[in-house]
Amino acid sequence: MIRTAVITLSDKGSRGERQDLSGPAITEMVKEIGAVVEFYEVIPDEKELIKERLLAYCNKVDLILTTGGTGLSPRDVTPEATLGVIDREIPGIAEAMRAGGMKKTNRAMLSRAVAGVRGGTLIINMPGSPKAIRECLEIVMEVIPHAVEKIRGSTEDCAVTEKG
Ligand code: MTE
Repeated sequence: MIRTAVITLSDKGSRGERQDLSGPAITEMVKEIGAVVEFYEVIPDEKELIKERLLAYCNKVDLILTTGGTGLSPRDVTPEATLGVIDREIPGIAEAMRAGGMKKTNRAMLSRAVAGVRGGTLIINMPGSPKAIRECLEIVMEVIPHAVEKIRGSTEDCAVTEKG
């Protein structure tokens, strides 16, 4: 089981002015890989608050998925907050999401999402729309269990499977 926290970054969502569809979309999709969302919250695009919430979940869950706040508007600060708490970046995860997303929309290149590890927790940023969530999770989901195992300290060889 992959213990998971989902954080939606949305000023409007946090004020109750917009229903968050992205958090629930993530919760539904990650069931496929045995991830159980134990914590879910919608918070405003405030860098220090995002850092605080990420830190609160680190070492409490295996995986934190954030949605929103990765773009170019002045309030988009999720990547900066994430970079502020991770010990090690995993560039390949964000690169894969952008590369895969580009097959659907050129706008995928506008997401500044990052991914990384703090302690025993994998953190992955994703863009905000449910469409983007589906497209991004489709790409990274299958590697998450292996990544979590490695972060937990598994020293088993990484056997190459058909899926790579
Ligand atoms: N990636 C995928 N796969 N599909 C999308 O529709 N939308 C893009 C991009 N990444 C998109 C995507 C758009 S339009 C923006 S502005 C950026 O993500 C940032 O989104 P965010 O600010 O909601 O995080």
